[in-house]
Amino acid sequence: MKKIIAVDGPAGAGKSTVSKLCAARLGYTYIDTGAMYRAVALKVIQSGKNLDENLIKDIEITLDESGKVFLDGIDVTKEIRTPEVSRGASNVAKFGFVRKKLTELQREMAKRGKVIMDGRDIGTQVLPNADLKIFLTASVDERAKRRFEELKAKNFPANLDQIKNEIILRDKQDSEREIAPLAQADDAILLDSTNLTVEQVVNKILELAQ
Ligand code: DC
Repeated sequence: MKKIIAVDGPAGAGKSTVSKLCAARLGYTYIDTGAMYRAVALKVIQSGKNLDENLIKDIEITLDESGKVFLDGIDVTKEIRTPEVSRGASNVAKFGFVRKKLTELQREMAKRGKVIMDGRDIGTQVLPNADLKIFLTASVDERAKRRFEELKAKNFPANLDQIKNEIILRDKQDSEREIAPLAQADDAILLDSTNLTVEQVVNKILELAQ
């Protein structure tokens, strides 16, 4: 059984949904690294200050087993899912000092093994020695539709065209940044989920994990 699983891919590809389910089925810990970049973005927004090393020097980000996210001890699970924080996360993710700090935390979390970690640079930078690497993608239209339905279900205001444009912008920003851009690792397995159900993707990953 593969002990460390890395799942990368663009926004809305279904990484967190399938990684969470795979973790539950394998008895593994799920680590959502996007939530960590979102927490940094929220900290910047809430502080009203410019992002610098000092602001995140002592930042505390905790992900608990139930999927809750804590920023400096406060539950921010809901607050980090707004479109404003999505944009902010993609912006803070460009800075080397932010990536360095979060990469260190992520490697520490993976040390205990039996983890499935999702993000943009897990297979390429954070855990280059992962036992299994998946690059999960889907068409832009399908990803926008999924995000739209997700936001609607949470009663956030949502507009499909706007979401699609934001996804295109985030994809561009995430894959063109200089440090640790979104990229498929050479040894990652490409999974296109456009025409697959969640269950099909989960089963495929579990098969590969055996
Ligand atoms: O997966 P997500 O949408 O929650 O991620 C939010 C942003 O964080 C995304 O636009 C890019 C950034 N991110 C990153 O740069 N590296 C990661 N490992 C995870 C997320």
